Amino acid sequence: MTVHQDLRTSTFTADVAPRGAATTEEHGTAAEWWRSAVIYQIYPRSFSDSTGDGIGDLPGITARLGELHGLGVDAIWLSPFMTSPQKDAGYDVADYCDVDPIFGTLADFDTLLARAHEFGIRVIVDLVPNHSSDQHEWFRQALATAPGSPERARYIFRDGSGAQGEEPPNNWQSIFGGPAWTRITEPDGTPGQWYLHLFDSSQPDFDWSKDEVKEEFRRILRFWLDRGVDGFRVDVAHGLVKDQDFPDYTPDVDAASMGGEETPAPYFEQTEVHEVYRDWRLVLEEYEGDRALCGEAWVSSVEKAALWVRPDEMHQTFNFQYLETPWDAGQLRGVIDDSLHAFNSVGAPSTWVLSNHDVVRHATRLSLTGENPQGSGIGPDHPGLPDRQTGLARARAATALMLALPGSSYIYQGEELGLDEVHDLPDAARQDPTWFRTAGERFGRDGCRVPLPWVADADTFGFTAGGTPWLPQPERWKSLARDVQRVDPDSTLNLYRRMLALRAEHDLGLGQLRWLPGNEGSVLMFANQDVTVLANTGTQPVALPAEHDVLLATAALKGAEVPADCTVWLRRHAG
Ligand code: GLC
Repeated sequence: MTVHQDLRTSTFTADVAPRGAATTEEHGTAAEWWRSAVIYQIYPRSFSDSTGDGIGDLPGITARLGELHGLGVDAIWLSPFMTSPQKDAGYDVADYCDVDPIFGTLADFDTLLARAHEFGIRVIVDLVPNHSSDQHEWFRQALATAPGSPERARYIFRDGSGAQGEEPPNNWQSIFGGPAWTRITEPDGTPGQWYLHLFDSSQPDFDWSKDEVKEEFRRILRFWLDRGVDGFRVDVAHGLVKDQDFPDYTPDVDAASMGGEETPAPYFEQTEVHEVYRDWRLVLEEYEGDRALCGEAWVSSVEKAALWVRPDEMHQTFNFQYLETPWDAGQLRGVIDDSLHAFNSVGAPSTWVLSNHDVVRHATRLSLTGENPQGSGIGPDHPGLPDRQTGLARARAATALMLALPGSSYIYQGEELGLDEVHDLPDAARQDPTWFRTAGERFGRDGCRVPLPWVADADTFGFTAGGTPWLPQPERWKSLARDVQRVDPDSTLNLYRRMLALRAEHDLGLGQLRWLPGNEGSVLMFANQDVTVLANTGTQPVALPAEHDVLLATAALKGAEVPADCTVWLRRHAG
């Protein structure tokens, strides 16, 4: 295997710029890697299966790292692969410091990490601090001891309301549907206390007011840092600390749908939660190299998101406002401006993201016409389905817009193949707890988690050596398989490759955005470094700007016109 030392990999060892409220321009090319990195999310269950059990695994990933190097990504983020009963696909962790046997062993992880580093690819692991699995040793101990025990105090146990404690302590609802409290049977067999779970009942929430919990997570951070990981994606980062009064709460759906300022729930965005990340930042700074924290915090504005990346907190946070913005030039212009302003004001890079394992894939989402609340998924009758041609054209154009923006971008496995959401999964195949906890009212997230197609003419499209994929793959993905796209110059895969190579060559991640004349109506037009970007979100073609060469176009240009749903990267003629 050859390891290419190119410009991109050499930036990994570049000098560290000072932390603090500096603009991206001041950092130049010597900035920390996470300021401009393209980070590829791997969902291990669905990436590549080396054992034939139908579930992807760590050796499967290691074997394909060359593909990701060829694609040109700077880092990978691995969704959880730690010991877990897999009630929420690994986001229910039973042992934070070991690998689940379905994914391999710690030695397999070390091999993956070493190989990735040989390729110059950084590795971020997923940390789930809000809750554990109910199979975690601590939770078993909590159930086995009496109310008020130190073992129980690591989680959020409360007596019920009602005369016999038969009602939950308050009205909080689980994000996955149904009540957020479950009643236990005490060790003596009597009906007992209730425990809080913001997600599935198999995911009890930790009590983050307890020092023991804080110390345990410092230990877990160090365990992975000692192994050499480059950072952590922090799950439900806004949820760890709860309002200690546990007041009843009913989400203000009207305020949210009117685009107003929704009051945060008493279990999200509590001021004290930021102390946790200030503490973690110090733990990361005990280590050499640029280790980074990226928060998964679903908050209602980019200004709020910026609170997570103040100089002494996390390094990055996901920009979900950007993900939630429709394919509309006016709205995109607004969110781009707001993001750059908000993140710059705290000296952090903006991040950009269009797809992940919790949302409808953007090659489908951008062509939908109906409501599509995050996490609910879509089923066979959703309005706007199936319009794969429009969806794919918009996805390619939207990604080219995203990858031209300064900051760090996340891409989700399979989007480089233009994969669509599998909205037509059979009911019997669905596995997301959301589907079960809402009795099928919400489809959940399985449709974006279907195993990848590698080889068009192989069984299971080459995903697994002999097994049945844990979710069925649609026949239509044959034409999207990686081996077919590798040899098609116009494929989405080759478009991604070109975009990542040009992005690195022109150092777009560390540039500055300057809106240009022509940035109006349904056209976005800006310059970043020496590249001019034009995105046409409208329905009519627009003229290509004069005196420019086309570096890249996401659709075939018709003469000197940029068609609808197309983005072009241009370079002004010299002189
Ligand atoms: C995050 C994860 C999601 C998971 C949830 C509970 O939102 O991205 O997949 O179900 O947290 O851990």
